[in-house]
Amino acid sequence: MLRIVCIGAGRLAGHLMPQLEQAGHRVIQVYSRTRAHAETLASTLTAAEVPDSLRHVDPDADLYFLTVPDDAIPDVSRVLASRIHGGIIVHCSGVAPLEVLAEAARRGIFYPLQSFSPGRAIAWREVPIFVTADDPAIRETLLGLGRQVSGQVFGLDEKQKAWLHVAAVFANNFSNHTLALAEHICASAGISFDWLKPLIRLTFEKALDAGPEESQTGPAVRNDVNTIQQHIELLRQHPEWQQLYALLTESIREMAHRSGRTPG
Ligand SMILES: NC(=O)c1ccc[n+]([C@@H]2O[C@H](COP(=O)([O-])OP(=O)(O)OC[C@H]3O[C@@H](n4cnc5c(N)ncnc54)[C@H](OP(=O)(O)O)[C@@H]3O)[C@@H](O)[C@H]2O)c1
Repeated sequence: MLRIVCIGAGRLAGHLMPQLEQAGHRVIQVYSRTRAHAETLASTLTAAEVPDSLRHVDPDADLYFLTVPDDAIPDVSRVLASRIHGGIIVHCSGVAPLEVLAEAARRGIFYPLQSFSPGRAIAWREVPIFVTADDPAIRETLLGLGRQVSGQVFGLDEKQKAWLHVAAVFANNFSNHTLALAEHICASAGISFDWLKPLIRLTFEKALDAGPEESQTGPAVRNDVNTIQQHIELLRQHPEWQQLYALLTESIREMAHRSGRTPG
């Protein structure tokens, strides 16, 4: 059983800390910028105390989880590192490198690749968790911890981790943004976004089942020049959408051409 201190009682901590307790560990303290938020999270845990400041954090814990915003990690880590006696300081960011924990003698990254929000249940066994550490023993400890909560736990070096995050931005943020644009287009034309929902569901199902490149359909992959021209013409009132349409169309065409699906 690991004795864990949680710093930052936000969206990730609200899901991760109870899960670590379910795996048999003990969260002994929760500290957060807003005491009431720390108290709310502590109330969901077995016996977590809420210290008054970072300087009152237990110096003898095994693990210090920094579930604070990425920008706050270096400062929190610096204060902690000067006070603790040998526990591992861990951050959970997909972007921040190990270097942001430079002052920690023992450090690692424990990055769950999922979007966490309050009140939205998480199927933890399916959440991929990525572990990065420069010390092999710490890496093993964090991999072991990860396997207790998820069926998908992987060690990554820093370079792979940086690429993973770029890929996640394309998969999550950009695809979500194009859905948001579709919603705006529907609104500006006075039509219902709901009509697109069966298509959206099937698009994601097919991309996951058969692979996204293989599943691509539509005017760009068919190289249907007249339709593309009509769409570009329709979008002339919205130059930023028009520009994005042209860029994405070109990207789809290029990929289809390289894989031999269209003559290009
Ligand atoms: N949410 C996700 O989907 C997700 C997924 C994977 C990884 N992560 C990573 O997890 C970390 C936390 O993200 P999050 O989304 O949980 O953030 P969040 O919801 O914004 O929560 C951050 C928490 O840290 C507290 N905090 C801020 N500055 C602090 C400081 N200097 N000292 C102590 N506490 C401080 C906040 O204060 P208050 O007490 O005022 O609320 C808040 O409770 C980030 O590194 C993020 O990249 C998040």
